[in-house]
Amino acid sequence: MKIKKIKKTSGLYALKYIKPNIIIGIGSGSTSNYFINYIYMFRNMIKAAVSSSKKSTSKLKKLNIPIFNLNMIKYVDLYIDSADEVNKKMQMIKGGGGALTKEKIISINSKRFLCILDFKKKVNILGNFPLPIEIIPFSKSFIKNKIIEIGGIPKYRKNIITENGNIIIDIYNLRIKNPIKFKKKIYSLPGIVTIGLFLKKKSNINILSFKKKIKIIN
Ligand code: 5RP
Repeated sequence: MKIKKIKKTSGLYALKYIKPNIIIGIGSGSTSNYFINYIYMFRNMIKAAVSSSKKSTSKLKKLNIPIFNLNMIKYVDLYIDSADEVNKKMQMIKGGGGALTKEKIISINSKRFLCILDFKKKVNILGNFPLPIEIIPFSKSFIKNKIIEIGGIPKYRKNIITENGNIIIDIYNLRIKNPIKFKKKIYSLPGIVTIGLFLKKKSNINILSFKKKIKIIN
């Protein structure tokens, strides 16, 4: 089975977590897009969606799903998204699509986080996928230099301004053995808005799709 098909199948499987009157949080990226394509069948059950990006919002609006601003509500019932890399402890790298800040805010404000993963994203050590960080433009050179000091190779993501008006640096050449320690180390740098390491709130439902089977990890 091709990876595209695997993503589609897991998106379809995630539908079983939609319950009546639910407020869902929606991530960004191709897996989330497949999931959005399927939810039209369930749109009458969905009270509203909180979206992590303009792209996802526009897809949801086309399906006539009401969009809530996170500030209008106390919490989201279920946040559904994918990730770029995930280790055994369900610690993740996210932000390949550049929406990491809103994704992090929504995921932390959700009662549950359902992460849809294809098997290629499971790793022993995080870091093969370049770690995205969203930073304020003023701090670009300073942060690049600090990243080099810790052994990373920073690459500025060209022609991308995030929906929050910031820029993204992808950090290559990392082997993140202790993600908590690593995150603390770089969060102390002024100018960093969000690091694409999702550690605080573990996803509590994980749909892991292999070529021929789907595994649910809680
Ligand atoms: C976007 C993300 C995505 O969840 C991540 O990049 C995975 O993308 P895809 O579903 O296309 O593999 O974090 O910011």
